[in-house]
Amino acid sequence: VFGRGSEIIVRELAGGVSSAVFEARVGPNSVVVKQALAQLRVPGGDWTADVRRSAVEARCAAVLNELVPGAVPRPILIDRSRNAFVMECAPAGSVTWKSELMAGVVVPDRATAAGQLLGQIHQRSRGRSELRREFGDRSLFEQLRVDPYLRTTAARHPDLRAPLGAVIELLEAPGECLVHGDYSPKNILVMPDGGLLLLDHEVAHWGEPAFDTAFCLTHLCLKSVAFPEYEQALLDAGDVFVSTYRDHGGPGATTSLERVPRIVGALMLARVDGRSPVEYLSQAAKGTVRQIARAVLLDPPRDVDRLLDRVRDGARR
Ligand SMILES: Nc1ncnc2c1ncn2[C@@H]1O[C@H](COP(=O)(O)OP(=O)(O)O)[C@@H](O)[C@H]1O
Ligand SMILES: [Mg+2]
Repeated sequence: VFGRGSEIIVRELAGGVSSAVFEARVGPNSVVVKQALAQLRVPGGDWTADVRRSAVEARCAAVLNELVPGAVPRPILIDRSRNAFVMECAPAGSVTWKSELMAGVVVPDRATAAGQLLGQIHQRSRGRSELRREFGDRSLFEQLRVDPYLRTTAARHPDLRAPLGAVIELLEAPGECLVHGDYSPKNILVMPDGGLLLLDHEVAHWGEPAFDTAFCLTHLCLKSVAFPEYEQALLDAGDVFVSTYRDHGGPGATTSLERVPRIVGALMLARVDGRSPVEYLSQAAKGTVRQIARAVLLDPPRDVDRLLDRVRDGARR
């Protein structure tokens, strides 16, 4: 990438759990190298994952670079033999949306931009049969999402097996568009100019768009339970995220949004009792999340507005 003989300064970037991520700099020019690890660095240990996901991520980066130019770091080079790829480095001063939220900085514009970007990805990939073929293999989505999140949770909550099974069935339907699979504030960088950069496309697949919408919304709902002082701001961010998504997601967005509340119920419970629990919930908050999620799964709200009301009411009870 840089040419021979130049001095390369390498530093590891924080935040990666499933990969080794390095910045390599020569003078003013930086690139990022991401290599998939066979062993995920999560508490509680042995969660192995298929390193084929590096190739999926690199390929998805190329597709997204074309569908939503400027919204992902441009991919530069793929090294299949090392399960690695090289991409542009985000501008200096970029921070994850998650780090802002965790600092209690809830900027509505981030939610608007995140809703717009997701709507565009879904809308612009819908009906692209070559993408359906290319991303049709859901084995990584099964391995990294359905199994550790949903099946594990169903095993721990036998009485919720039916509604959780229905959510799994939804996600296993033939699919409609390119689904990112990890659309979380942790994987969205906010650049100094306020623009967003989406990262981490390892679980991308052709599937159910409501998964992405629900995945992001789940993070906002969980944080609203965890941080009562920002509760309303976080739920408002969820509301604006969804309405912007609807505006940009094309004709399929409205029907896909009807499936979101149930998936959010399942994912909220999964982020407490599945194999990848979020780190910021107290014991009491976990109990609240379980109660809200259970009620949502057993009696799903009709739309996202009602879902957000339920989360708020459940947290205040
Ligand atoms: N192109 C990039 N430019 C700058 N920072 C990056 C880039 N890619 C990744 N990072 C940093 O590395 C972290 C982990 O990257 P990510 O792709 O999410 O890996 P993982 O799959 O391990 O979660 C990100 O949160 C971000 O801070
Ligand atoms: Mg990540």
